[in-house]
Amino acid sequence: MSSMLFALLVGAFSLLCFYLYLKHNYWKKNGIPTVRGCVPVLGHMLPMITKRMNFSESIRLGYEEHKNHSMVGMYKGTKPVLIVRDLNLVKTVLQSNFSSFHENGFKILPEVDPLLSKNPFFCYGEPWSTGRKRLTYAFSNVRLKILFAAVGGVCKKFEDFLNRRLKTSNKYEVDMKMLFLRFTSEVVANAGLGIEGYCLEDDAGASAFYKRVENTFTESLATIIAFHYPSINRLLKFNVLSKSVDGLFRQVVSENLKIRRNASTPNNDFLQLMIDMEKTGEVIDEETVSAHAVSFYLDGTETSSITLNFIGHNLATHPEIQEKLRKEVKSTIEKHGGLTFEALKDMTYMNQVISESQRLYPSLGFLHKMCTEEFELQGSDGLTYRIKPGTEVVISVFGLHGDPKYWVNPDVFDPERFNDERKQTIEKMTFLPFGEGPRICVGMRMALLQMKACLATLMNNYKLELSPRTQVPLQMSPHYVMSEPIGGNWVYISKL
Ligand code: HEM
Repeated sequence: MSSMLFALLVGAFSLLCFYLYLKHNYWKKNGIPTVRGCVPVLGHMLPMITKRMNFSESIRLGYEEHKNHSMVGMYKGTKPVLIVRDLNLVKTVLQSNFSSFHENGFKILPEVDPLLSKNPFFCYGEPWSTGRKRLTYAFSNVRLKILFAAVGGVCKKFEDFLNRRLKTSNKYEVDMKMLFLRFTSEVVANAGLGIEGYCLEDDAGASAFYKRVENTFTESLATIIAFHYPSINRLLKFNVLSKSVDGLFRQVVSENLKIRRNASTPNNDFLQLMIDMEKTGEVIDEETVSAHAVSFYLDGTETSSITLNFIGHNLATHPEIQEKLRKEVKSTIEKHGGLTFEALKDMTYMNQVISESQRLYPSLGFLHKMCTEEFELQGSDGLTYRIKPGTEVVISVFGLHGDPKYWVNPDVFDPERFNDERKQTIEKMTFLPFGEGPRICVGMRMALLQMKACLATLMNNYKLELSPRTQVPLQMSPHYVMSEPIGGNWVYISKL
């Protein structure tokens, strides 16, 4: 009996090995090189599960390992994932053959995360184009000018906050991630929802908006399963947006909609825009408005605060560039008689500083797409692959932004790469901080508005110096989906 059981076990084990061998030979069989480090069952996911690196870093390593190839394969468990390296293939996926790659690779189950699943990032088809149209209108030039009033108010609170910190000491040491998260969260509270966020109060307690909306992008085992393995998550039901955050947005929206619908004077915020759309005959139920509010928060705060965090680091480590930026800020403010919407538009050197910082440290280090229609990918090196619906494709933004093939001295922070003349020579698809094609970040202009307003306030009044607490060179945390330096990004802020 025991020998029969043993034989059965050996048989089952051999079958499993054969199954894994077949699965993990998929790329070899299709003539595509494979990233090193594939292990049985987990494929290339081991470093993420053991917290040695995040998904973004593992894609970057795959990109850098195969310098002479147009595409390279890896495995999420047993699932094949294709990294496209050639600029032509990047363009095919993001832009020219969008119809074959119009879904994003991360999936959210509506039954587990109802509000998050309505975010355009996770939608496709009709719900995507409707949601995207609303947000495109919300961030049009006319609407941004209206939202700027609230952003300007947050700049004032930010300045007051820093001045209070500098009352008793001439230097304020701070981790910029938290500082800028307070700023961008207050923008969402004020410009998005029309509520007080209390994020820039001295003793911002648990009721402060940024503390109530906890870290959604931590790369835990639960979020890895929720984002990457929706079929397993149908059973496990791990939600990305916690119940408390889901409830908070529903409550804030519900209470505010009641007040707004009966108010005689309209507010100038994102929520009001949703109400106005309702008046033009568009049917937007309360759940959808709550979902748009979540999008505004999740897509807008962390991405912008992370970007500001790295810009702050680059300015602190390059005092001459900081000084040049300060000169532009001061002269433009003087020219416009204050920090106006038009003044921000005129700060073009600031655009260069932001772009160069995003090149060195993109907040999202990869783009993740799903093939929806069979398509023949042809690489410049002669590799071809007929991609099938359901196969995931990733693009390493970190890899492209740091590739010496496209950038001279890629590790050097040099905003002149983005001056009017040199900008023309940047190859298309090598700079993707906001993505590209029909799914390019719909909030890009809102992001630039709030980041520029925040930076102008800082540069106009304060100086940034690197604190020895920052671990240089910066290393990215393996615990986070987006880019975050290990140990924080500490600076001293002082008055000019
Ligand atoms: C510096 C700040 C920001 C960065 C770096 C950033 C970056 C990105 C990236 C890389 C994508 C994916 C593009 C693709 O799939 O090709 C994206 C999509 C998106 N972003 Fe942003 N973003 C920022 C700020 C914002 C803000 C402020 C909002 C709105 C308030 C926003 C809303 C969205 C939405 C809704 C999408 C999904 C678009 C779609 O799939 O059609 N983002 N963003």
